[in-house]
Parts: sequence; structure tokens; C-alpha cells
Amino acid sequence: MAKVYKKFVVANWKMNPLDADSAVKLFSAIREQAVRARETLVVVAPPLLFLNTLTRLGNDKNISFGAQNCFWEEKGAYTGEISPTMIKGMSADYCIVGHSERRALGETNEMVNRKVRAALRNGLTVILCIGESERDAEGTYLEFLERELHEALASVTKKQLSQILIAYEPIWAIGGSAERSCAPRDVHEVVILIHKFLKDIFRVSAALEVPVLYGGSVAPENTEKLVREGRVNGLLVGGQSLIAANFCKIIEIVDSLVL
Ligand code: PGA
Repeated sequence: MAKVYKKFVVANWKMNPLDADSAVKLFSAIREQAVRARETLVVVAPPLLFLNTLTRLGNDKNISFGAQNCFWEEKGAYTGEISPTMIKGMSADYCIVGHSERRALGETNEMVNRKVRAALRNGLTVILCIGESERDAEGTYLEFLERELHEALASVTKKQLSQILIAYEPIWAIGGSAERSCAPRDVHEVVILIHKFLKDIFRVSAALEVPVLYGGSVAPENTEKLVREGRVNGLLVGGQSLIAANFCKIIEIVDSLVL
């Protein structure tokens, strides 16, 4: 039976690196660290172009692969799109859906929902990204997060809950150095709310077990506090996942923490 992981570190390489050799080099360094983990799953989400090359290197212990996006149809005349069926066929088990950089290009909650359902139908585990662009003193960003969750998960069944991870990625915190990240206590508040919203949507206690990750300027310096005080099940890492030594350090710290 497949091992059930409680902690996750996801590498979102975005549109990097520029060639397959660099991708292999980076992945090999990450793999060395990942196989040593005791209870952490490392999900590597490279540009799809490199996915086949990397999965052929082996689906090692504690490593899974993910796509950064998918389309909602299985096949057909959709120029430039990649379907969840194709992604699954490349030995990837995860799919990031609704990343803020895709939403900035025009992806709506309704499109995110179609992608979520298509990915789930094809047996992928979805890493659903939500996050506000700014925080206001009145707390309307919390309503925004609730709506993002509700609309992205419309028509998803209780049974599919075990195939879902939520990544809380406040947009204002993405793409900086460690100081830009969200304060751990604010992350914790959102984790509690996400579980409440999921419970409202699905009306089962399993909703409280859905892993919640944090993303936004994660670096070795803030990893411990974010996980320990933010009470997340792991991290979604962008910029620092491209620097092997730093990403390996993040894996090591996450793995050493008792949740
Ligand atoms: P960052 O990116 O770690 O570079 O802030 C995170 C993300 O966008 O997923």
C-alpha cells in the first residue's frame, strides 16, 4: 500500500530552468535529500517539457511529480493545452491548479473548478492554490478566500476529498525574500478558516484532515516558524526550489519538525 504522508514540500519551478540538463542536475540534487526524509513527500512540478525526462530517472522513495497546470478536456482541438490524462500518463500524480500567476492571466474560479474536476476524474491529486491580493483591516480577504474555495470545489464529492491539498498563497507574499512571507500566526488563522470552510462545504469531519500548505517567499530562514507556528502540513516553494542547497535545507527542516 502507498505510504500516507502528513508533510509535503512542493517545488514549483514555474518557467525554469532553461534546458533539460539543468533540470536533471537540479532534480538529482533534490532527490538525494528527498530519499533521506522520514515522513515528508517531495513533489517536483517542473515545466511539462522536462517531466518525461525526470520521471524516467525514477519515481524514488518520497518523490512524486506534478504539473503546474492542466486543461479540463481530455483531448481534442485545444491548441497549446495539456490534459490531465496526458499528465497522468507521464507518471505525475499531482497537479497544481489555480496558481495566482495563472489567475493573473485570466483564469477564473469557474475555469479553476473545471480543471480541478478534470484532474480529480483522472486520478490526480490536486494542489489547489488560493490567496488574496491584499489584506484589509475589515477582513474582507477572508470572504474572498471563502469564495475562492467554494467556487473552485463546486461539485467535488466527499469521496474526492482525499485527493485534495490546499495551498494558501497570499499573492502579496509571493516572489520575495524571507521577510516578505506572511506572518506565521496569520498563516495559522487562515489554516483554521480553510478547514472551517471545507467543513461547511463537505459536511464531513474528513474535511478537517485536508492538508493545508503555505506558499509565498518560503526560504530556509522562515521554514521552521512557518510550519511550526503556521501549523501547516508543508510548503509550496517557488524561487528557492531552483537553488538546490536551499531547497534541500527546506526539506530537511520540514522533515525534522513534529506536527
Ligand atoms: P515563491 O513562489 O516561493 O517564489 O514566493 C511561490 C509560488 O508562487 O508558488
